[in-house]
Amino acid sequence: MPTIVFVSPKGGAGKTTSALILAEQIARSATVTIIDADPNHPIQSWAAGPNTPANLTVVSDADEENMIDVIEEAATRTPFVIVDLEGTAAKIVLLAVSQADLVIVPSQGSQLDAAQASRALRVIKQQEKMSRRAVPYGVLITRTNPTIRTRTSGHLMNTFREAGIAMLNTELHEREAFKALFAFNQPLSHLDPKDVSNIDKAIANAEAYAAEVIGMLRASQEKGAAA
Ligand SMILES: Nc1ncnc2c1ncn2[C@@H]1O[C@H](COP(=O)(O)OP(=O)(O)OP(=O)(O)O)[C@@H](O)[C@H]1O
Ligand SMILES: [Mg+2]
Repeated sequence: MPTIVFVSPKGGAGKTTSALILAEQIARSATVTIIDADPNHPIQSWAAGPNTPANLTVVSDADEENMIDVIEEAATRTPFVIVDLEGTAAKIVLLAVSQADLVIVPSQGSQLDAAQASRALRVIKQQEKMSRRAVPYGVLITRTNPTIRTRTSGHLMNTFREAGIAMLNTELHEREAFKALFAFNQPLSHLDPKDVSNIDKAIANAEAYAAEVIGMLRASQEKGAAA
């Protein structure tokens, strides 16, 4: 029953977008709850639109007081739980991370975002010390240009890797379709090609990303079972 928590203190790093893209992919074959713990409730607003997959439930009453209970309860109802947090380093993040089977740290390929991602990684390390267990995580580079890799973002990714930071191999590209999710309040699969370009490419990117996340969950489950 994996719980996947999206963390970055940086506003606009791509947490909500990456969380929703993952949830939609998982909902194709399993039930999933998204805990929309951002007080602005972007995912709840999205789910008020049409065509929300029947497999996807949104819960939006989580706060610092009840976060752990809300995650536990969701995990009894659906095999996958995804938590989207606001861009903060507050206690609620630590609480959510304490329940995580996987933490994803979205970061754009710029120096400022990389610094913010490092702050998120410190939260993970802090939680690991508190709970005396390893918290699997991966940095997800977001909003990259699908056709060219800039030197700056390539350099930053190498810096992350050299520092021993776990990175997803898949990047989430900058795609109009990923923005359109929230503009039209529709899942990717229901966007209209008349309104939005390259939906197929965005879906292929979403599938590769979700497949890698599922692979990471499997690998850490197997590691846990072997321990
Ligand atoms: N891969 C992407 N392609 C295109 N636009 C994107 C992508 N990822 C995020 N965006 C856009 O960037 C903005 C910020 O993204 P998002 O809301 O997902 O970030 P966030 O980390 O959840 O922010 P906050 O901390 O405010 O909750 C949004 O306008 C979103 O549509
Ligand atoms: Mg958000």
